[in-house]
Amino acid sequence: MRILGIETSCDDTSSAVVENGTTVLSNVVSSQIKIHKKYKGIVPELASRHHLENINYVVEKALSGSGKIDAVAVTVGPGLIGSLLIGTTTAQAISEIMRIPIVGINHIEGHIFSNYPKPGKFAYGKPKVYPVRSKMPKASADAQSYRTSNGVKFPYLALIISGGHTDLILVERFGRYKILGRTRDDAVGEVFDKVAKYLDLGYPGGPVIDKLAKKGDASKIKFPRPYMPGTWDFSFSGLKTAVINYADRFKIPHKSSPAVCDICASFQQACVDVLVRKTLLAVRSFGIKNVILGGGVSSNSQIRSVFIEKGKDENINISMPPFEFCTDNAAMIASAGYFKLKYSKVLNGIINPLPNLELKNWD
Ligand code: KG4
Ligand code: ZN
Repeated sequence: MRILGIETSCDDTSSAVVENGTTVLSNVVSSQIKIHKKYKGIVPELASRHHLENINYVVEKALSGSGKIDAVAVTVGPGLIGSLLIGTTTAQAISEIMRIPIVGINHIEGHIFSNYPKPGKFAYGKPKVYPVRSKMPKASADAQSYRTSNGVKFPYLALIISGGHTDLILVERFGRYKILGRTRDDAVGEVFDKVAKYLDLGYPGGPVIDKLAKKGDASKIKFPRPYMPGTWDFSFSGLKTAVINYADRFKIPHKSSPAVCDICASFQQACVDVLVRKTLLAVRSFGIKNVILGGGVSSNSQIRSVFIEKGKDENINISMPPFEFCTDNAAMIASAGYFKLKYSKVLNGIINPLPNLELKNWD
């Protein structure tokens, strides 16, 4: 069963075709970074305009060579309303013209499912065929034993870390979520972006801080670790202020000076310490030795290596998305759509985008 995925919740226009939730036939991402870079952050109005300009091309490209599709999955929230609307109206039109089911996906759920598709199986080249309505397969009892592409089974703890979210979620099975904690202020990726903006390092901040941190000394500056004891919630805005105050106080001059590399390394270390420690505490508290990561920040090299190392030390099964599925992409939405159609009783119908959509259980 082939699902066409569409993702336009923020600044990436993406469309993908994924077979049976795991085999990626196409994954096209049109990034708007160049456009927003000069404003050092996302300008919502520009984002929706560029989605509108790109969406047809991106969907066409994803469909070309992917053969018959059986359903369309689209991000319905959370996200920027103007951006979401471009994806949802496109998906709705495709569903009606092709007479195939449509399924709405929560963006956070999408990041969880970024652990299911396998990378490197992109197969282009076959002729485009428009499909007829297909029958949905029934839910099967094997759902509970399903594994991520890295072999991690339910139940697991999902740490979703991106520019918009820092969520620790207990996932019991497909579509059964319990949010344990989330950020009370800034998301961790947002703080990477804001620190980078302050230090004039460009946008997005995560990749550049990751790179400069490798040249810095992480023990140089003792930034606070907002562990937030007694709750699974996170809080990163105080850490952001501490970094900005430090740069101000010591008049840290410009871009990649050694002092800036030390700030990047020390700041990143503080983020990694908090994210890893809280996740490992949850592993012990809930007795769940399976952890998955997702979201743009899960491509951070230090976060990945520390989780791998701790996973080995403490016998925890860790799954992280391949790099191409960490930041926003439609393959994760198509994968979520497949499993949602397979294991839930979703109704085919009108899709309404919701900027503050909560993560809901499938039943
Ligand atoms: O998942 P994503 O593409 O969009 C949201 O759903 O928000 O995540 C984008 C975020 C940005 O804040 C970006 O700075 C961050 O992911 N990011 C990173 C890295 N690569 C991207 N943060 C830390 N280290 C990275 N290597
Ligand atoms: Zn995202």
